[in-house]
Amino acid sequence: MFSGQAWRVVRFGEPADAAELRELTWAEPSPGQVLIRVRAAGAGYPDLMMTSGHYPLLGNPPFGLGSEAAGEVVAVPPGSRFSVGDQIAGITDFRNGWGGYAEYAYVREGSAMPIPAGMTDEQAAGFPIGFRTAHAGLVERAPVRAGQTVLVLGAAGSTGLAALQLGKALGATVIAVAGSREKTEFCTRFGADHVVNYRTEDLPARIAEITGRGVDLIYDPVGGDTAAVALKSVARGGQIAIVGLASGTPVALDATDLLLRNYSAVGVLATPDEDPQVEAAVWRRLAGLVEAGKITTPVGRVYGFDEVPRMIEGHRAPGPGKTVVRVAF
Ligand SMILES: NC(=O)c1ccc[n+]([C@@H]2O[C@H](COP(=O)([O-])OP(=O)(O)OC[C@H]3O[C@@H](n4cnc5c(N)ncnc54)[C@H](OP(=O)(O)O)[C@@H]3O)[C@@H](O)[C@H]2O)c1
Repeated sequence: MFSGQAWRVVRFGEPADAAELRELTWAEPSPGQVLIRVRAAGAGYPDLMMTSGHYPLLGNPPFGLGSEAAGEVVAVPPGSRFSVGDQIAGITDFRNGWGGYAEYAYVREGSAMPIPAGMTDEQAAGFPIGFRTAHAGLVERAPVRAGQTVLVLGAAGSTGLAALQLGKALGATVIAVAGSREKTEFCTRFGADHVVNYRTEDLPARIAEITGRGVDLIYDPVGGDTAAVALKSVARGGQIAIVGLASGTPVALDATDLLLRNYSAVGVLATPDEDPQVEAAVWRRLAGLVEAGKITTPVGRVYGFDEVPRMIEGHRAPGPGKTVVRVAF
C-alpha cells in the first residue's frame, strides 16, 4: 500500500473550486496497470473539460486529474512487462478515476513506454497523449502519405504540436495554424513548413497561395469557426480528422458539402489497439522516432504541484507548447 497526495475533482465548477488536494492510498496494481511514483505529469485542455463537467468519458466526481505521467515504477502485477525501478511514461488510468497529478499514479501498462534516452521528465510526462493521438489520427484513422499536405489547427497546442511533428516525420508538408505570432514562431521552431495566424490572416487565401489546390488533410483539435473556415481549403478527395473541440464546439459538418466537394470526415479517439502486440509496436515506433531526433515534446509552461487549479484555469488562454506539472524531483 502506498500513500500520498492527489488532486481530485470533488465537484464540477471553476478549477479552484472543483479540484482539491486529498490524501489517498494506492493498492497493489491490478493486471493491466503499473504503479509509478510520479515525477511529472502532462496537462491539456481536457483538464478544463473534466473540472467543468464537460468531459464525455468520465462520470460524476470524485475522480483524479491528469491523463499522462512519467516516473519510476514502484509496483507491478504478476507477469507485467515492466519491473520495479523502470523509468516510464504513459497514459494514466484516469478513465477509472486515477489521475497523474498525484504522488503515485496507475499507468495503463499497454499505453506506456520506457523513457527514451535523453528525454527530460517534463518531455516524457507530456509525450503520451499528444503523440498517441497524433498516431491515431495520422497513421491509423487518416493515414498520411509522404508528399501530402496536412493542415494542423491549434498547432501550438499539445495535440497540435504532436501532429505537426509526426506529420513531418511521415514526410508530409505541414501547414500550422495558430492564433498569435508567438505561437506561429513556436510552430516554425518545431518544423512547420508554413505557418498561418488565423487571427490576422485570411486562412483560405493563404492556403490557396501555399498549395494551389487545397490540403489533403485537416487535423482538427479545435472545431468551431476556425475549423469551419479551414474546411473551405480541403482538396477534392481530402479529409478532415476530428480530434477535439478546444473552441467549445466540434466542427459543424454539412453532408451535402462533403458530397459535392468529394471529401470525408473521420473521428479520432486515441484508444489502444485491441491487439496488445500492435499497441506495443505503436509505442516502440513513437519511442524510436524520439530516439532518432524526429519528434519530441515541445514543453511550454511548467507548473508546481501546488498550482494545479491555476494551471487548469490557464487552459482558457493557453500559451504555446505542452503544459506540464512538476510533481516531485
Ligand atoms: N481525440 C483524442 O483522442 C484526443 C486526445 C487529446 C486531446 N483531445 C482534444 O483535443 C483538444 C485540444 O486539446 P489540447 O490538449 O491540445 O489543448 P491545448 O494544448 O490547450 O491547445 C488547444 C489549442 O486550441 C486553440 N483554441 C481555440 N479556441 C480555444 C479556446 N476557446 N480555448 C482554448 N484553446 C482554444 C488554442 O490555439 P490558438 O490560440 O492558436 O487558437 C490552443 O493552443 C481538446 O478538445 C481535447 O479534448 C482529443
